[in-house]
Amino acid sequence: MKLTPSIGGTDGSLVEVMTTMRAMRRLRADPVPRELVRELIAAALCAPSAGHQQGQVFIVVTDRDRIARLATVWRMVAEIYEGWMGKADPRYGTDPVYIRTWEAIHYQRDHFHETPLVIVACYDQRRQIGVVKRRLGEMVTALRMAGPRRAARLLLGGLSALEHRSEAASIYPAIQNLLLAARARGLAANMTTWHLFAEADVKEILEIPSGVRTYAVVPIGWPLGRFGPVTRRPPDEAIREDHW
Ligand SMILES: Cc1cc2nc3c(=O)[nH]c(=O)nc-3n(C[C@H](O)[C@H](O)[C@H](O)COP(=O)(O)O)c2cc1C
Repeated sequence: MKLTPSIGGTDGSLVEVMTTMRAMRRLRADPVPRELVRELIAAALCAPSAGHQQGQVFIVVTDRDRIARLATVWRMVAEIYEGWMGKADPRYGTDPVYIRTWEAIHYQRDHFHETPLVIVACYDQRRQIGVVKRRLGEMVTALRMAGPRRAARLLLGGLSALEHRSEAASIYPAIQNLLLAARARGLAANMTTWHLFAEADVKEILEIPSGVRTYAVVPIGWPLGRFGPVTRRPPDEAIREDHW
């Protein structure tokens, strides 16, 4: 990736970027330069993809009308999430950190229409799926190699899990790269998936073909607040030695 001089960001170590890449939901309305957007996408595309399929597609939305329509959908999905899952969390309304997060979420909900840039990450695997599905003979041979029990498990969900997880694992690393590059350039962004409560609406607004899945909506802009360190649990809490 060709790097341009940092714009109010950090050209520090990758660790510095990772440890300060928080979900930033308060954005200025000023536009993000097109060259910078291309740089973010170039960083995203450095990520690997299953079978080197490179099906990542990033819809770069700056059209005010489409963003206004996305904002209407966003208000609905944010309210669905808050009413259902947000309020179910015991930290809701009690934990000061969580209260601040919800204030930021409400700010983003109320200002979404002013977002200068929204990137919607999709994965287009239609051609490959079509090729694989047409090769029924090879599938039967491969399933025979697995033996009857494994073959049954594969047919009952294993193949679908492989398809879905491989596809997700081919887009989320790219989204993370995009977020890290945004942080390194001083841009605020946050990874979101609540649009999946109303994916059909988002696909309609952005004219996304029916066979293509969307994975994240990432609002991006210059930050209104400051980047701080992420707060995460210590590694020991996530490590299991040799077995679960
Ligand atoms: C898979 C995934 C989905 C997320 N979806 C949303 C979302 O829809 N809306 C939102 O405001 N934040 C979303 N987030 C951001 C998380 O809420 C955020 O990363 C978490 O609260 C930690 O905050 P921090 O990154 O600022 O430390 C998502 C994060 C991940 C990894």
